[in-house]
Amino acid sequence: MTKLVTLIKGDGIGPEITDAVKKVFAAAQVPVEWEEENAGETTLETVGELIPGSLLNSIKKNKIALKGPITTPVGKGFKSVNVQLRQAFNLYQNIRPCVSTEGVASRFSNVNLCIFRENTEGLYAGLEYMDERLQIADSISRVSWEGCYNIVKGAFEYAHKMGCKKVTLVHKANILKNAGKLLLKAGDEISKQYPDIKYEDKIVDNMCMQLVIKPEQFDVIVTTNLFGDILSDLCAGLVGGLGVVAGANVGDEIAIFEAVHGTAPDIAGQGKANPTALLRSAIMMLHHMELHDHARNIENAINETLLHKDQCTGDLGGSASTTEFTDFVIEKLKK
Ligand code: NAI
Repeated sequence: MTKLVTLIKGDGIGPEITDAVKKVFAAAQVPVEWEEENAGETTLETVGELIPGSLLNSIKKNKIALKGPITTPVGKGFKSVNVQLRQAFNLYQNIRPCVSTEGVASRFSNVNLCIFRENTEGLYAGLEYMDERLQIADSISRVSWEGCYNIVKGAFEYAHKMGCKKVTLVHKANILKNAGKLLLKAGDEISKQYPDIKYEDKIVDNMCMQLVIKPEQFDVIVTTNLFGDILSDLCAGLVGGLGVVAGANVGDEIAIFEAVHGTAPDIAGQGKANPTALLRSAIMMLHHMELHDHARNIENAINETLLHKDQCTGDLGGSASTTEFTDFVIEKLKK
């Protein structure tokens, strides 16, 4: 039976990479029908809304969405649509696997980790104040026990399900003592429920150094919203860059799948974007929908394609366009 999925094209490279996913899904005969909606500057111009009601209703109804990146103005303008969507549907887990792939050049060949980033609280809670007269700005990091508990529990559950050996909790509790205390308390409490999984905590600055020296020592990483955001791009750099790293925003009922990267304005509209990250996010979506065979078929085709550097996009050292890469993936699909 065909399932309806909300598709948000986004902007920047969003339309190019979402088109690639649509083409691959059609060629692989995935039983998914897209309900297309959008958000951000695009819909602000066309329908006068940053997040149209029709998009919210579509996600509420379908419970699953695939999302291209959406621009957020830097230092001014509207609040991130991405953050608003995560908060609106309480998608408290941001799950970002970073795995070395054969053929994808990187300093390391043995990275296999997954980041669990808290996705609705912390410095992204939206509590910001500016005293224009005194020129003082406050950005408040609000963390709740429930938020800490849920993200740590999610990380351990994932580690348990996937047979991972270790969970590393990353914090800055030496300075941010209160928020750190709650997260560490969640780590201490929940780790006792999983005696077979090794548990450790690390201060975020040390974690950055450890990751760039010996990333293979990490398995599941659980952390706050801001640290998770930063560590995600760092870890993307360990496995070939932002063009290949997928992600999922998951709540109890609804999930929105999207790549780690943004709208890549420097290459948008030029046919240079690597669609792998969004395709891999779509593969995570297919597993979530229990369409495992389709997920594996597309994953194998991507992995085969990545072995051919000449068929890859510029970020991976090749010279293929988004369309050429996509067509090669389609050729490699098992029909
Ligand atoms: P970015 O992730 O868009 O780009 C960083 C670098 O990676 C650029 O050099 C870009 O060309 C490259 N890159 C990213 N994705 C690529 C792909 N698929 N193929 C090849 N190269 C790729 O980060 P940046 O420039 O900091 O942000 C641009 C905009 O994206 C901002 O407005 C930001 O707020 C937004 N953004 C949106 C996200 C979302 O929708 N979830 C996530 C991150 C940023």
